[in-house]
Amino acid sequence: MCEHDASTAQGSGGAGAAGKVGGAGEAGMLEGVAPAPGVRAVVRRCVCSGTTFEEVNQMLRRGLALGDVTAKTGAGAGCGACGPYLRLVQRSGRTAFAVLPPEVLRRLDQGP
Ligand code: FES
Repeated sequence: MCEHDASTAQGSGGAGAAGKVGGAGEAGMLEGVAPAPGVRAVVRRCVCSGTTFEEVNQMLRRGLALGDVTAKTGAGAGCGACGPYLRLVQRSGRTAFAVLPPEVLRRLDQGP
């Protein structure tokens, strides 16, 4: 598995609305999606391609499909570890996420 761009949530401060880690508190990201217990790192980009979730979000907001973003940037086309996070960017418009536990990532990988 690739290493993700991680920083402590406490040290990341300054994230704008689009870069917000949580919704209803940091753990609240999306309903039914809770971060891995005890992990305070933040995932903000596809490490394999170097594409930030902010860049992905901007392309999606301009009307590109997620598959088009992958074709254009390579985000999600490497190891695939960022795939569930890319789908969260698409669903939520957020661009920074707490590290999610494996069972949640598997559920997100299976689609809506
Ligand atoms: S982190 Fe490997 S494909 Fe995105």
